[in-house]
Amino acid sequence: MRAARIVTCGEPPVVAECPDPEPGPDEPLVRVLAAPITPLDLLCASGTSYFGTPATPYVPGVQGVGRVAGASDVGTVADDGRLVWFPTRAGMAPGDGSMAELARVPAADLVELPAGADPVAVAALGLSAVAAYQALTWRGELAAGEQVLVLGAGGAVGQAAVQLARMHGARRVVAAARSAAARERAAEAGADAVVALEPGDDVAGLATRLTAACDGPVDLVLDPLYGIPAAAAARTLRPGGRLVNLGGSAGETSPLDSSTLRGRSLRILGYTNNELTGEQRAAAMGHVASLALEGRLHVAHERVPLTDAPAAWHRQSTGTTSGRLVLTP
Ligand SMILES: NC(=O)c1ccc[n+]([C@@H]2O[C@H](COP(=O)([O-])OP(=O)(O)OC[C@H]3O[C@@H](n4cnc5c(N)ncnc54)[C@H](OP(=O)(O)O)[C@@H]3O)[C@@H](O)[C@H]2O)c1
Repeated sequence: MRAARIVTCGEPPVVAECPDPEPGPDEPLVRVLAAPITPLDLLCASGTSYFGTPATPYVPGVQGVGRVAGASDVGTVADDGRLVWFPTRAGMAPGDGSMAELARVPAADLVELPAGADPVAVAALGLSAVAAYQALTWRGELAAGEQVLVLGAGGAVGQAAVQLARMHGARRVVAAARSAAARERAAEAGADAVVALEPGDDVAGLATRLTAACDGPVDLVLDPLYGIPAAAAARTLRPGGRLVNLGGSAGETSPLDSSTLRGRSLRILGYTNNELTGEQRAAAMGHVASLALEGRLHVAHERVPLTDAPAAWHRQSTGTTSGRLVLTP
């Protein structure tokens, strides 16, 4: 099969022919139709993540969409008809991921998708939308009528969060994003107001602009950025308001001041998909896929042939994408 493989940590994958994986008794092969390139894939392949340095070479890709291959059909790549989304531990634990023509996946991890689901659109949403959904509703306890502020709203997590917050009862959704293109994506996702995040922002100045875009104190902040945006967003919260952090795209630390935190009895919460049980993850992914099929949930994405994986990987690492890049083997 053809696969993208990380040969040297910190460098883009190399596309090459390599042996087909062998199916196991409870590990069918999946013929991959779509595999997104996400920040987590790059983090794992950097060799410097908290998961440790992966053994190389390995096939990256922590998730994908494909069709389950029939037991005797691997050579001809026929399938058993089931369209599935699947997670992998590629880069976090030994084993290969989704950026290949075939992937071996534990049967228990397969999430069957509704008939008619678009593999590329579902792959683009994937774990980013699962994180947005679970962080808003489960960790963030979003209640009907609340005002939600979504940071990094032009990314996949952010676009999904804007749409999901609205669907789950938010009365007003304010977005903040960096580039003009990201702000446009946030507006297309349905934000009531979009605030620009500027390179020279300080906490007080950004907090003033965010506050001006809100119609009173914010109940819940969804934060994939941390850094200065999170510290500024905390100042928009009502007493007892919640901020859920699920990423550090703007900084590994944040100048969140104690007076804001204690003065308003804020709840600063962390979220990771890795804490979900398999059942929770499958239920959330099923919800995401159903909404996508109904045309109610979508993130900007671009389809890229697997052979162009190295260039696409480089684009994701330099932030020069116009949405989620999805490899199509
Ligand atoms: N905890 C979890 O389970 C979980 C799950 C999924 C994702 N995440 C994390 O959430 C974050 C976002 O993921 P994603 O899938 O949305 O990624 P993505 O689609 O690649 O989007 C990243 C977004 O972050 C913005 N950004 C990057 N650096 C920034 C900075 N310094 N200041 C402001 N904005 C910045 C980019 O803005 P521009 O468009 O302007 O470049 C882009 O819109 C990542 O850190 C990812 O690791 C966590």
